[in-house]
Amino acid sequence: MNYENILIEKEKNLAIITINRPKSLNALNKATIEELNHLLITLESDKETKAIILTGSGEKAFVAGADIKEFSNFNTSEGSQLAAKGQELLFDYVQNYSKPIIAAVNGFALGGGLELAMAAHFRTASSNARMGLPEVTLGLIPGYGGTQRLPQLIGKGRAMEMIMTAEMINADKALDFGLVNHVVEQSELLTFTKQIAQKITNNSSTAIGKAIKSINANYRDGINGFHEEIKCFGECFDTEDFKEGTTAFIEKRKAEFKGT
Ligand code: HXC
Repeated sequence: MNYENILIEKEKNLAIITINRPKSLNALNKATIEELNHLLITLESDKETKAIILTGSGEKAFVAGADIKEFSNFNTSEGSQLAAKGQELLFDYVQNYSKPIIAAVNGFALGGGLELAMAAHFRTASSNARMGLPEVTLGLIPGYGGTQRLPQLIGKGRAMEMIMTAEMINADKALDFGLVNHVVEQSELLTFTKQIAQKITNNSSTAIGKAIKSINANYRDGINGFHEEIKCFGECFDTEDFKEGTTAFIEKRKAEFKGT
């Protein structure tokens, strides 16, 4: 597939994906969602790639939302389709991805942009970042999982207020709310986020995949997270990484994980 709306750069075991529609503040149109889905599918089976960083191009925006111009004349069924397809192709896929995905929020993360950052496994932000779910100003509600993930991350009362007022919060407040894990200067954001990602890639990727699955189990209907954890924990014992990790500990050396 020829990517027109996203850029991909690889650095050691990291893949850095940049949403690249700066003229529209990286708004997510249908094509961008399809390209992201395609690239993520490719990277999931790429043995070299151990972690992914998602960011936006330019200095102004991570993603300023779904592309308003694309859905402004939609009816109910088209609107439902938009949300359902987007959630399936991108937002749920990101949340349940087997490799870590970190959102590096480099500016505005609004509507679908914040929803994408929230679907990622965790978030870093630049000090100029502003985040919000302004959908009610358009006569809409969040449709890419925002009504579910925002209260999960910051609590119901804060989410209610953010969604009802449509107001943006700045990076420090997002840090205070636990919406992002770290705030750094914009010029340092990618380097800083890469350092965290590199630390992750030193660990067992099979174990990390199972940790993501277990943690997410708490947020999925009909699944008991404690049971999922026991299942995933048990499965770890069947992996080469488990043998390598425990042997390295006993032999007092650094483990070299193969991700198998
Ligand atoms: C389409 C967008 C856009 C968007 C910005 N642009 N956001 N185009 N969809 N979400 C475009 C503008 O139209 C403009 O293009 C260019 O990007 C620059 O934006 P400006 O508004 O001129 O910049 P500025 O004055 O600095 O304001 C920045 C901003 C504002 C505060 C971020 O652009 C803004 O409020 N954007 C919309 C944010 C929003 O409502 N997001 C939620 C969308 S709904 P032109 O060509 O005019 O110069 C959503 C639903 C998700 O996300 C669920 C779906 C199922």
